[in-house]
Amino acid sequence: MARKLVISVSGKGGTGKTTLTALLLKWLILNTDEVALVVDADPATNLPDVLGVSIEKTVGDVSKEMKEQIEKGTLPVTVPKQDLLEAWVFQTLVEEDRFDLLAMGRSEGEGCYCFVNNVLTRILDTLTKNYTVTLLDMEAGLEHLSRRTDRDVDAMIVVTDPSKMGFETARRIKELAEEVHIDVRHIYLVGNRFTEQLEGALKSAAEEIGLELAGYIPVDPNIMSFNMTGKPLLEIPDDSPAYRAVERIAPKIGLDALR
Ligand SMILES: Nc1ncnc2c1ncn2[C@@H]1O[C@H](COP(=O)(O)OP(=O)(O)OP(=O)(O)O)[C@@H](O)[C@H]1O
Ligand SMILES: [Mg+2]
Repeated sequence: MARKLVISVSGKGGTGKTTLTALLLKWLILNTDEVALVVDADPATNLPDVLGVSIEKTVGDVSKEMKEQIEKGTLPVTVPKQDLLEAWVFQTLVEEDRFDLLAMGRSEGEGCYCFVNNVLTRILDTLTKNYTVTLLDMEAGLEHLSRRTDRDVDAMIVVTDPSKMGFETARRIKELAEEVHIDVRHIYLVGNRFTEQLEGALKSAAEEIGLELAGYIPVDPNIMSFNMTGKPLLEIPDDSPAYRAVERIAPKIGLDALR
């Protein structure tokens, strides 16, 4: 079996993290035999919609239920809490034909429920070991780095749009990643909504920040119309400019090894 790959997608808000995650999943479906694990690690939980999947419960929902039951003292005493939470989390996993989807949702009361957070981290670790490839759609900004949700990834993709703030966020993600991550093998930059004219500027910025440039995605009218009508992005035509761009990005981030 091919080497396991865990890939996270992060960056400033609205830069196209969820869109890129969906397009990378489309590439995996069309080019490999793998069933990918896709994790929506953004509390806003947009990815299921973009993929056309409905979810009943998030991991946040079940950890909230567990916290409430701990407070009320209504948990069965015969089953260890950890095993119970683990079982509940596994039940939230949505199994589709070519991918499984886990939505993290919102988790509250960090700190006072260390045990819940520890179990969640461990479950994610365990779960990713069952898949050749995992895609993590992160929440906007930097918070995920301090929570270390993506501390163990092989490739971190940082998405930026052509804006100063986009690049600034990319720089801070890289700096913070180096501070708190020991295990990230590659940090890539992907430009979204870029044009050929802006490619030079993207290249120099990547170099200056110290990120490996994996490519850029143009503005794509198909993405807009799919977004407007709520059609799943996996059904976007193969010759759509954004998907064509992702076909060029995939080998640059090591996905070719899974073919
Ligand atoms: N290349 C593109 N061409 C056209 N529209 C795009 C492109 N990339 C993203 N969009 C649109 O821009 C909006 C934001 O994209 P997306 O949701 O992927 O960003 P995000 O980084 O995940 O946002 P958030 O930070 O809110 O999670 C969406 O409506 C999406 O359809
Ligand atoms: Mg998103």
